[in-house]
Amino acid sequence: MNIINARLRGQTSLYSIRVEQGVFTAIEPQTATLSPSASPSEIDAQGNLVCAPFVEPHIHLDAVLTAGQPKWNQSGTLFEGIERWSERKPQLTPEDIEQRVLKTVQLLVENGVQYIRTHVDVTDPSLTALKTIAGLKEKLSKVIELQIVAFPQEGICSFPNGKQLMEQAIEHGADVIGGIPHFEFTREYGVESMHWVVALAKQHGLLVDVHCDEIDDEASRFLEVLATAALEQDMGERVTASHTTAMHSYNNAYCSKLFRLLKKSKINFVSCPTESIHLQGRFDTYPKRRGVTRVKELREAGMNVCFAQDSIQDPWYTLGNGKLLRVLDAGLHICHMMGYRDLSTALDLITINGAKTLQVEQQYGIEEGKPANFIILQGCDDLAVIQQQGEVLYSVRQGEILVQRQPASLLRTTHLS
Ligand code: FE2
Repeated sequence: MNIINARLRGQTSLYSIRVEQGVFTAIEPQTATLSPSASPSEIDAQGNLVCAPFVEPHIHLDAVLTAGQPKWNQSGTLFEGIERWSERKPQLTPEDIEQRVLKTVQLLVENGVQYIRTHVDVTDPSLTALKTIAGLKEKLSKVIELQIVAFPQEGICSFPNGKQLMEQAIEHGADVIGGIPHFEFTREYGVESMHWVVALAKQHGLLVDVHCDEIDDEASRFLEVLATAALEQDMGERVTASHTTAMHSYNNAYCSKLFRLLKKSKINFVSCPTESIHLQGRFDTYPKRRGVTRVKELREAGMNVCFAQDSIQDPWYTLGNGKLLRVLDAGLHICHMMGYRDLSTALDLITINGAKTLQVEQQYGIEEGKPANFIILQGCDDLAVIQQQGEVLYSVRQGEILVQRQPASLLRTTHLS
């Protein structure tokens, strides 16, 4: 396969890219625009951006497409979402889960995603969702790389046999250990769960991704516990703190002290801006907090932050369509990241930063010798893609075309100039 007239991130000239046996074998600058040939193995990128595939680092595939089942989340709060989900959970069957997961992965793939980290609720003695999704991993590997988080939605120390269920989840294929310390019955349970989670991951050679301080409570301070455990166990880059929305409400003096620890720990951060702006601030009158973690400040301090959708049409969030560019657009607004420097590197938030979080960056990126996994986005650079909410024109995995799209064309318009 040859790709001609490609733009690459951070480069000004056009490039030709050669793919052989599923691997990038040559990436060379062009001196001029090339005319396309009739070869079926050639893609003319037409000056659009060839970039590494999108990474969805935080979604709940077990819950997708269940909004309104059996009842709608009327208050819009995180906590009513957990209640509604606990009513839907007993109705889960392998067939129901498989059908919703496949439909959603298809949607994500069509929108340029090739890496997914899904949290799967393991506060279910039958572990139906975990077993079903682990069973789909092989089938899905043609189109995506899937990581499964054992996610204790109703707590580890606060749920009957919580620790045993987490251990069983590992036996059934979980790659990542989750947690939810702010939802445990007591602060002590939350602290205990964080030390236990990091030690368990270390013992099994797994990663950690905790729903950490997903609450507007400024006193919710489990991030410091998680970061300390990661630092002391030398697990930093293998640990992720998702959400950390309480950080929005921390006072600046505490945050300044906290950032020193966070930097030393080297942990990753996932922010879900559309989900958090919707679920947080719900107990405020006016002014209402945005309830999104300090993405801009974390990035400026040199830490790894990525964006995720969290939900697609589930008890917590009724919208969602697989388009990470929509999440990125919202996140840039919400986090006050509309300056040129932020906009011109914004795709990092849904590409390489997610890959670092998933620890897949060794095999990720447009480089000779790496697997030929890439997408072509409408637009010549990060800014243009965001300005026009560019479509994913192609998604290619190991040299095989997964998606090819014709951009919508305008049939009639009135010319003003
Ligand atoms: Fe989540």
